[in-house]
Amino acid sequence: MKFFIDTANLEQIQEAYNLGVLDGVTTNPSLMAKEGIKGVQNQREHYVKICNIVKADVSAEVIATDYEGMIKEGEELAALNPHIVVKVPCIADGIKAIKYFTGKGIRTNCTLVFSLGQALLAAKAGASYVSPFVGRLDDISEDGIGLVAGIVDMYARYGYQTQVLAASIRSTKHIIECVEVGADVATCPLSAIKGLLNHPLTDSGLKTFLADYKKVNG
Ligand code: E4P
Repeated sequence: MKFFIDTANLEQIQEAYNLGVLDGVTTNPSLMAKEGIKGVQNQREHYVKICNIVKADVSAEVIATDYEGMIKEGEELAALNPHIVVKVPCIADGIKAIKYFTGKGIRTNCTLVFSLGQALLAAKAGASYVSPFVGRLDDISEDGIGLVAGIVDMYARYGYQTQVLAASIRSTKHIIECVEVGADVATCPLSAIKGLLNHPLTDSGLKTFLADYKKVNG
């Protein structure tokens, strides 16, 4: 399974990249705003900075919600760097825009997906990635991981090439659950990725190894 980091924070992206296991980055307008990045020019420069760190897929979301606006913005975003994946919301004009981008060879991430039906439309339009929002479904007592599992099954059954990118991941446990149901990618906060390292038997085992080494070698 691939790991993306879900942030627009350059320090966190660099730290995740330095771990050596990062496959990409997802951003959204809220994450960009959290970093205080204001204005189209600054936003675009920021996307390029992210691409230059990771040299891998970087999802950049359109702000427009109408077809023509999404096409214009998506083409401009895609032209910034070959690693840009245009992130498009799962609304009617968004699905039409994804179909257009697919025809132009521009890669897309269909975002804000909360149902199997939406994921079906994204795949039929040729989206490169579909982003089911696990945490936000869990927040309203629905089954986020269950949706990821359903999409993985559906795409395998019908041979869709769209990759299942589990989004709105809130914990290390979510990442493990994504692995268990066969998600292609999980986009996670840095803390959840680092949480994968934690095991008390690793800590105690290492302590013992070093103590035994010291007994003999001083
Ligand atoms: C990723 O593509 C999404 O924008 C993100 O995972 C949403 O996460 P949140 O529900 O924690 O805001």
